[in-house]
Amino acid sequence: MPIPTPHIELSDISQIAKTVIMPGDPLRAKLIADSYLSNVIQINSVRNMLGYTGEYKGHKVSVMGSGMGMPSMGIYSYELYSFYGVENIIRVGSAGSYSADLGLYEVVLAKDAWSESSYAKVQGGYDKPFIEPSDALNARILAAASSINTPVRELRIHSSDVFYRERFEDYIDINREYGCACVEMEAFALFANAKALNKHAACLLTISDSLVTHEATTSEERQNSFTKMLQIALEASI
Ligand code: ADE
Repeated sequence: MPIPTPHIELSDISQIAKTVIMPGDPLRAKLIADSYLSNVIQINSVRNMLGYTGEYKGHKVSVMGSGMGMPSMGIYSYELYSFYGVENIIRVGSAGSYSADLGLYEVVLAKDAWSESSYAKVQGGYDKPFIEPSDALNARILAAASSINTPVRELRIHSSDVFYRERFEDYIDINREYGCACVEMEAFALFANAKALNKHAACLLTISDSLVTHEATTSEERQNSFTKMLQIALEASI
């Protein structure tokens, strides 16, 4: 497909880095670019899915929103990998804990993602409910986390299509049967695209709420834990 693509208006692929950090919220992408990157250019505003390229410690890195849910992450990550020469995508997001042992503000690196989603099967015929991220990218992320002394837990995550379930208690079975420690809504599609296209993907999450204790984070604490996770992603991207 020629660029620009239907969802990204960029027509010069040299303006995008090989590594893209993707928060769900496009305004978060803007905040990351404004707060952490220098020499920033805007690379997308189609549908307000803001994207930027800049430098972190002298290395080129891009940051762009993915939107919420697997269809949205599926579109943006596919276009970035396939048409813009992107090699690595690191999702940075939030997750709900399925386990009393996994508390608010903890940082999780997805060891793999389980999902009931049809995304991977429909996209490329991948018919298993588990997908792994890139070993190489996960190793870089773990090394980056230890270099800045930030604890990270490598755990299996659930990528769900549904935020509001009628049967709230489903999470208990998903935790017990499949070993998922927490839930988010995008990683499975990202990992499926990376696998289909021979690219690298990883997913870092901070725990923003607990389905077990019903606690939720304050916005100030959420910002602090987001910052820790983001620093790991930025260090891993250079
Ligand atoms: N992201 C953060 N909390 C979540 C939850 N409870 N369910 C799905 N995605 C989430």
